[in-house]
Order: sequence, then C-alpha cells, then structure tokens
Amino acid sequence: MTISIGSEDRVFVLTGAGISAESGLPTFRASDGLWAGNRIEDVCTPDAWERNPGKVWEFYSARRAAGAKAQPNPAHVALAALEGRLGDRFFLCTQNVDDLHERAGSKRLVHMHGELTKARCENECGQAPVEDRRIYASLDEVGRCVCGGRLRPHIVFFGEIPLEMGRIEREIQKATLMLVVGTSGSVYPAASFVHWARLGGARTVYVGPEEPLNASAFTEVVVGKAGEALPGLFRVE
Ligand code: OAD
Repeated sequence: MTISIGSEDRVFVLTGAGISAESGLPTFRASDGLWAGNRIEDVCTPDAWERNPGKVWEFYSARRAAGAKAQPNPAHVALAALEGRLGDRFFLCTQNVDDLHERAGSKRLVHMHGELTKARCENECGQAPVEDRRIYASLDEVGRCVCGGRLRPHIVFFGEIPLEMGRIEREIQKATLMLVVGTSGSVYPAASFVHWARLGGARTVYVGPEEPLNASAFTEVVVGKAGEALPGLFRVE
C-alpha cells in the first residue's frame, strides 16, 4: 500500500510505544511489557509519588538507562524524512517519553505524556522543566527546585492532564490525514484523536502488527511492524 500526500494535505501523526519496539524499548501492555513487571499504582500516579518517590525515580531511572542505549529505527527516520518533505504541513504528537523521534531528526513534535530526559518541580511552582538525564541510585541524589520542592520526573502520571492539548486539538482540526503508529488505543485522550480527525473528514490510517482497540474508527489499518511498513509507505506529490 502507498499513501499519496497531495500539496493541500496536512498530516498529523500520533505515535505510541510500538514505534520504539524495534529500537529495543519494551511496550507497556505486551505480555512481557512494562506494566506486566510494574504496577501503575506504584510508579505512575500522583499517589505513588506521594507515598514512595524513591520507587518512582527507580522506575524512571531504569527507563532513562534503556532510552540512552536505544537508537532510532527506520520508522522514526521515515517520519523525520516525511517532515522534511512537508515542513509545516506535518505535525507529530508522541505518547512516548523517549527522545528517539528527536534523535531521528523530527522537529515539529510534542510529547503529550512528558519527556524522560527532563525533571520538574513536584509543587508545580511555575519553574520550567529542567534537563535531567541522571540515573539515580537513591532518592538522596535527587535535586530540589529553588522553591524547595523535590524534582519529579517530567512525566504525565495517570490522572494528570496530558501536555499541550490546545495545540494538539488545533493541529488535528487542520489535518486531512491522520497516521497512528504503534499504540494500543487504550489510553485517553490519545485514543480519541482518531475520532476527532474523522469528525473533520480526515483519512485515518493505523500502522502496527495488530489491530488497536479503536480499530473500527480508522479508514485503513496497515498490519505490520512500523520499521518495515513506514519506509516507502508515503508518496509525496
Ligand atoms: P501499549 O503498550 O499499550 O501498546 C503498544 C502497541 O504497539 C500495541 O498495540 C502493539 O501491537 C504495538 N506494536 C508492538 N510492536 C510494534 C512494532 N514493531 N511496530 C508498530 N507497533 C508495534 O503502548 P501505548 O499505546 O503507547 O502512558 O500506551 C499508551 C500510554 O500508556 C503510554 O504513553 C503510557 C502508558 O501507560 C504513560 O505512561 C502516561
């Protein structure tokens, strides 16, 4: 299959953990995925942070170590190349907290669930997130904000509002093609994006080795691994 992209088209891409699977990073909901070995309630909720911030940092330090070792794969590269052809008619929203899209060359992107390579004040005191790639061996090593609050991972915990939603909604409204790659369609609001795009009349294409939960909302489903399916999928006219 080839997706033709005309001169009037605007492309919105949503990616999930599946796009980084071929880079060696585990997904969340696979039988051997991150949520099989870790309880969300222990590592990815505001309560978990209140109860045991050391355990939360332990989990995200391990994610940092794995992310630093991983390399972008042909799927990340294909999306960066597509952006190179389309410029401002391309927008990428990732649920992933790794930086493999940036390292492949993507520029017009938002991380709606946060970024592994940053930390921010636990008190939401107004200070911007800071770059932080450290792998913490204990909570004592974690720094504090100027306000005195402890630095927490710059990650959207379950129950918190995803980042940059206004910009994401505006970009979806403008899109004529939505491409969704490697996400199970089980976490909202991201799983709704395909419905929002359909309301605006966009073509909606899913790429992944198995159908997502919201498969019926897509106009087409391309069954395959992202790193094999994405290179060569697009024809820019
Ligand atoms: P999931 O683990 O729920 O789903 C990963 C998807 O990737 C599945 O549908 C797989 O079929 C697909 N997949 C596996 N290998 C692939 C490959 N080589 N190419 C393409 N697709 C592949 O991960 P997400 O949907 O990203 O949030 O999860 C959404 C959110 O839930 C995450 O951002 C995270 C998690 O809890 C937070 O931590 C806030």
